[in-house]
Amino acid sequence: MNKIIVSLLLTLGITGLAQAAGNAEAGKDKILLCTACHGQDGNSTLMPTYPKLAGQGQRYLLKQMQDIKSGARPVVEMTGMLNAMSDEDMADIAAWYSSQVSTLGEADPELAARGEELYRGGKINDGVPACTGCHTPTGEGMDLAFYPKLSAQQAGYTAKQLTDFREGDRTNDGDAMVMRGVAEKLSNKDIKALASYIQGLR
Ligand code: HEC
Ligand code: HEC
Repeated sequence: MNKIIVSLLLTLGITGLAQAAGNAEAGKDKILLCTACHGQDGNSTLMPTYPKLAGQGQRYLLKQMQDIKSGARPVVEMTGMLNAMSDEDMADIAAWYSSQVSTLGEADPELAARGEELYRGGKINDGVPACTGCHTPTGEGMDLAFYPKLSAQQAGYTAKQLTDFREGDRTNDGDAMVMRGVAEKLSNKDIKALASYIQGLR
């Protein structure tokens, strides 16, 4: 538990880093390249592993773009795409995607109960915290603290992220390694159930 509180404090402590005072109208003209994979309105449908960006928090989106651009979060599909973009361009894009409305998703009824149990209760004996504490009970997240919105996200994408955190293939969750810590004790079955439940969460 102490570890989680420390993580929380550390995460809150870095909130000053990325400023997201973007202009959504200006952002709309800068996403031509992005729509092929992330959809016209930020609702990706092309591949289950391509994330929806619609309705995601502005500050979180900007941080991810900065991390993808710097290589702190490698995304091969986006290689070079952000190189010519300034922080202002990326802030505008973040503002635009954030102002879009996410389409709803459904959970697999066979997995939803286990997914909900994990989302709301974590795995007490293994030290996995509930997701609700940071991502909120409805999955909307807390953008001030850079906690992303999860609700209605594509299950394939969520499962890949949790696996990547667990395997150390996604490491941009800060020095406190918040999500690597959370994912460490999740089995493949846990991840599948969580990802499906989250896809239907609203
Ligand atoms: C060829 C497909 C493709 C294109 C084009 C593309 N992306 Fe992505 N994007 C991806 C994939 C795949 C991921 C997730 C990678 C992973 O698994 O971590 C991603 C992740 C992201 C994320 C992180 C989302 C999150 O929830 O953490 C942001 C933000 C993003 N893209 C913005 C953009 C922007 C802005 C553009 C246009 C400049 C763009 N992308 C163009 C495929 C693409
Ligand atoms: C102590 C706070 C905290 C807890 C508890 C927590 N998370 Fe997170 N989560 C974060 C932060 C912070 C990030 C963003 C890391 C970054 O900046 O890349 C994140 C990112 C994620 C992402 C990636 C989202 C995206 O769009 O790429 C997923 C998926 C996720 N968390 C799922 C979960 C699940 C499932 C649980 C419960 C088992 C959980 N988290 C518990 C703080 C937390």
